[in-house]
Amino acid sequence: SDQSAFETDVWTLTRFVIETGRQAKGATGELTQLINAMLTAIKAISSAVRKAGLAHLQGLAGAVNVTGDDVKKLDVLSNDLVINMLQASYSTCCMVSEENKELIVTPQEKRGKYVVCFDPLDGSSNIDCLASIGTIFAIYKRISEGEPTEKDALQQGNNIVCAGYALYGSATLVALSTGAGVNFFTLDPAVGEFILTERSVRIKPKGKIYSLNEGYAKYFHPSINEYLKHKKYPEDGSSPYGARYVGSMVSDIHRTIAYGGIFMYPANEKSPKGKLRLLYECNPIAFIIEQAGGLATTGTQRILDVQPESLHQRVPFVVGSPDDVNEYLSFVKKFS
Ligand code: AHM
Ligand code: MG
Repeated sequence: SDQSAFETDVWTLTRFVIETGRQAKGATGELTQLINAMLTAIKAISSAVRKAGLAHLQGLAGAVNVTGDDVKKLDVLSNDLVINMLQASYSTCCMVSEENKELIVTPQEKRGKYVVCFDPLDGSSNIDCLASIGTIFAIYKRISEGEPTEKDALQQGNNIVCAGYALYGSATLVALSTGAGVNFFTLDPAVGEFILTERSVRIKPKGKIYSLNEGYAKYFHPSINEYLKHKKYPEDGSSPYGARYVGSMVSDIHRTIAYGGIFMYPANEKSPKGKLRLLYECNPIAFIIEQAGGLATTGTQRILDVQPESLHQRVPFVVGSPDDVNEYLSFVKKFS
């Protein structure tokens, strides 16, 4: 019958987080609270992205919605959701968001010991064409005492306690790692819970896809263009790579983890450090990719080793299957 097909002992993400929290020595449950608050924000963003409450979001009644409130754009709404849910979890002392120039300091009475760096809605140029977008986050323990400062947020990716991303694609998926591998969870909208759908995800050693905005080739360093030429016209008789580029990093990264291959946002003459931000775009993704057996580099340094200097700094970013990233690095060497 219909009923017998219903799983009664599923691993939800909430259960998974509680269980890993229980196993950690000396755990107080604060990280569990924090991750659960993040998941609540992600579920709400997912619902908003799917245009639940259509009139309110798109402002069909004009710039002011039917209830008379100003219509909040999806990225602003997502940012407010993450900040409010995280502050309400009593587990953060400060946060860095792509949407806020300054460090966001948690009101004193709601402070806890964690720092969160996040991009509430990455790929926002894709919102209006309904392509996939995502949320990215990294969690650290604070390192100072007293008033939280930027120093707490300017930690190397090496110090990440937990990182993840949410992909609002054909389904909503969360990839999460607390440093013991990567797991994928898919949102079951009927239950409102993320269900474990892939355990201990591993990236292929080598893929068949390269992914970057090749439209900027004119401005690339010759090492990049030589590498790309090699992917398109292999000298050894092997097949050329396929090209895929959504232009929404979470989508491009999720495909790279699922199918293998390489994703890059290299430096170019116009943007000498590339485009992507170290704290809330590159570090969390680098952590997840490494946890899945891949590599993440600036071209000259491992991403997680980069010492951040400012909240919104950019770094060139090359990630993916280890053989593919190493092959790219061999081209960097040739030209240095
Ligand atoms: P955003 O944070 O303003 O959305 O920009 C980040 C996005 C990434 O998701 C994506 O990889 C990149 O910008 C695409 O940039 P480009 O259009 O230059 O290829
Ligand atoms: Mg972004």
